[in-house]
Amino acid sequence: METSDKYLFKYRGCCFIQNMVTPEYIDSLEDFEIKDSDVFLVTFPKSGTIWTQNILSLIYHEGHRNGTEDMELADRVPWIEYNIQNVDYVNRPSPRLFSSHLPYHLMPKGLKNGRGKVIYVARNPKDVLVSYYHFSKVSVLLEEVEDFDAIMEKFLAGRVLGSLWLDHIEGWYAQRDNMNILFLTYEEMKKDLRSSVLKVCDFLGKRLTEEEIDDVVDKASFGKMSVDRRTNYTTMPPDVLDFSKGRFMRKGTVGDWKNIMTVAQNERFDSVFKERMEKLPFKFCWDINDEL
Ligand code: A3P
Repeated sequence: METSDKYLFKYRGCCFIQNMVTPEYIDSLEDFEIKDSDVFLVTFPKSGTIWTQNILSLIYHEGHRNGTEDMELADRVPWIEYNIQNVDYVNRPSPRLFSSHLPYHLMPKGLKNGRGKVIYVARNPKDVLVSYYHFSKVSVLLEEVEDFDAIMEKFLAGRVLGSLWLDHIEGWYAQRDNMNILFLTYEEMKKDLRSSVLKVCDFLGKRLTEEEIDDVVDKASFGKMSVDRRTNYTTMPPDVLDFSKGRFMRKGTVGDWKNIMTVAQNERFDSVFKERMEKLPFKFCWDINDEL
């Protein structure tokens, strides 16, 4: 164990939630056997994970689209690294859909060797930070840091869930030629959800009718997801999420960082992130009105 506090512990360079996973389990994931049909959704926390989990579930499950099946997203697209309910992941019916915040280096070997498929969703890190800041109030499992400056320093130092944003995205991007991976951004999903859904279907080789695509797009809208208990996390127990402190489906927009970060904080953020970010090929969009 590298470091540990009341909320997070760091193991092999990555921060995990206390009591949700053990180092032994993390180590065991390297040998978790990957099938060609497996689909992994990978994100840095607060980058649109539940949004994409919902999209994947809607694409794969007709019963979700037409409302005949009522299943939690966490059961449809469960976390590979947080198997709290001890589900038999090995024998889940194919295609097995998984979510993960893991950095590339902790992933199963099979995935690194090109088996399975990965969808990596990235979001501009200032909005990620702001979303994380608000979420840390709602989440009982994360340290609540009232002072934005303090949480920003933790974020810039990688002392948050998911560790350092730059390491996460760089680590995954560096392996793009060795695996089946689709990169999407939160911002492109926000600007044109239908095109993003089509991209995902294309990547996964899923053929949906126009009508079915319409349905996925409609049910994955912020408005619909905010009022659906399967997609707004309101079924979570109060010892995990405290909704008196805020909502999980908060604003769902691009550029909210401008409402909270001061000019000095923005400059400080850029001084740490800008150089490495400029080397990434993603066109991050920093304002809802910006062109992509
Ligand atoms: P905000 O806090 O900025 O509103 P994650 O699932 O990775 O934790 O990400 C949560 C963020 O995604 C939250 O951002 C949440 O509102 C946003 N989100 C979830 N569903 C969305 C949707 N359908 N459209 C836009 N944003 C969505």
